[in-house]
Amino acid sequence: MSVIKVAILGFGTVGEGVYRTIQSHSEELTATLGKKVEVAAVLIRNTQKKRNISENVLVTTEFADILNLDQLDVVVEAIVDKEPTFTFLKSAIQRGCHIITANKEMFAHHGKELLDLAAEKRVSVGFEATVAGGIPVIQTLRQLLNINRVKQVRGILNGTSNFILSEMREKKQSFAQALVLAQENGYAEADPTNDVEGFDAFYKTMILSRLAFGEEPNWQDVEREGITSITSELIEAAETAGLRFKHIASITRLGGQIKATVKPALVGKENPFYHVEGVQNAVNVQSDIVGEITLQGPGAGMFPTASAVVEDLVHVCLNPTVKRNLTRSQEVGTEFSKHDDKQETWLVHRLTHKPITPAITWIEEVEEGTYVINASSKEVKQLAKQQKNLLYFPIIGEYERVNQVKAALKAL
Ligand SMILES: NC(=O)c1ccc[n+]([C@@H]2O[C@H](COP(=O)([O-])OP(=O)(O)OC[C@H]3O[C@@H](n4cnc5c(N)ncnc54)[C@H](OP(=O)(O)O)[C@@H]3O)[C@@H](O)[C@H]2O)c1
Repeated sequence: MSVIKVAILGFGTVGEGVYRTIQSHSEELTATLGKKVEVAAVLIRNTQKKRNISENVLVTTEFADILNLDQLDVVVEAIVDKEPTFTFLKSAIQRGCHIITANKEMFAHHGKELLDLAAEKRVSVGFEATVAGGIPVIQTLRQLLNINRVKQVRGILNGTSNFILSEMREKKQSFAQALVLAQENGYAEADPTNDVEGFDAFYKTMILSRLAFGEEPNWQDVEREGITSITSELIEAAETAGLRFKHIASITRLGGQIKATVKPALVGKENPFYHVEGVQNAVNVQSDIVGEITLQGPGAGMFPTASAVVEDLVHVCLNPTVKRNLTRSQEVGTEFSKHDDKQETWLVHRLTHKPITPAITWIEEVEEGTYVINASSKEVKQLAKQQKNLLYFPIIGEYERVNQVKAALKAL
């Protein structure tokens, strides 16, 4: 029986998970591919670390050793940072290998170049693990929504931030306490900036944008905000209003332009993100034929991520030249300037005085200084300019008037 030879770059959480899954699921791989999958080589950096790798596998610190193997079909990349990863993967494609990556930072920066080069060399690129860990969101968008016109993609894309927000709400902890717990559980790095300031979710959002709409917004125009401004006090105020904070990435195409935001937002019970807790991720796709689809599952971790990689492995081997152009059909919509004027629902917090303006509809006073309002984003930003400490967050979906309901129940 012929063999598919794989090299794994990096033997950390993801690399080791992929290695172990290829061993544990070799029968399924052989049955699906009609060929045996063999890990031929592993690239590492630190030779002192003890690793559980079979003696038949070449373990090396030199990428050149891997490129020089007699047979090499697929290169799986599970390293960190943009370089030397990008250079390694370009060389692998030049050699005629399919590549699979879990590295979102690298892929957000260089994905287009890698996809172009792969198309030229007639090989495939798998990147399921770059977004939402084990959730098959990339394949869903890539393979299953070819005719649908995608209108909007929203996602909870960073498990660490979601874990922190869940802990703060459920256990009444401060941001700092919840962050320490995330670090103790191995969900957050010693330097958590990438996660809690929204960079990780931003990279994933750009990858999703390219996939869903064939292009990305100008990176400078994306509103990116992490969760560091969310206090226990705010979480409590949101709960009083029947809402939960989630860190949400949102990509929409309007009037031929892509608009993306990556920031905290509020959702009510009816929203599919309301019950997405802990390190879970979720992605909601709205498209014209099917309507709304929500995928939810583990956003990170050794085996969920390995699952995404080995499914990609099957996919690149069975579909060696996947079409490069992932652009969706044009969405006809409103202009962005008009979108800025669109009425949305907001929770405003630390409001010192209510301005008298017909541009704001006061829906409910949640507690002193905290209101649910209807206004355009232009108007809310204007309000924030006038009242320095004001915090404001969009409410996604219908807002149910909690206090009014409570009052009505009391009156019964
Ligand atoms: N962890 C997750 O749940 C998850 C989920 C989705 C995507 N990802 C992405 O997957 C990638 C890997 O994440 P991870 O959690 O597995 O990281 P990790 O545990 O820190 O492992 C990184 C591995 O890369 C190796 N490495 C780093 N630089 C190298 C270099 N220049 N040459 C050779 N090897 C090098 C390290 O080697 P040594 O062992 O020798 O130090 C280590 O084995 C990252 O891009 C991450 O964003 C991770």
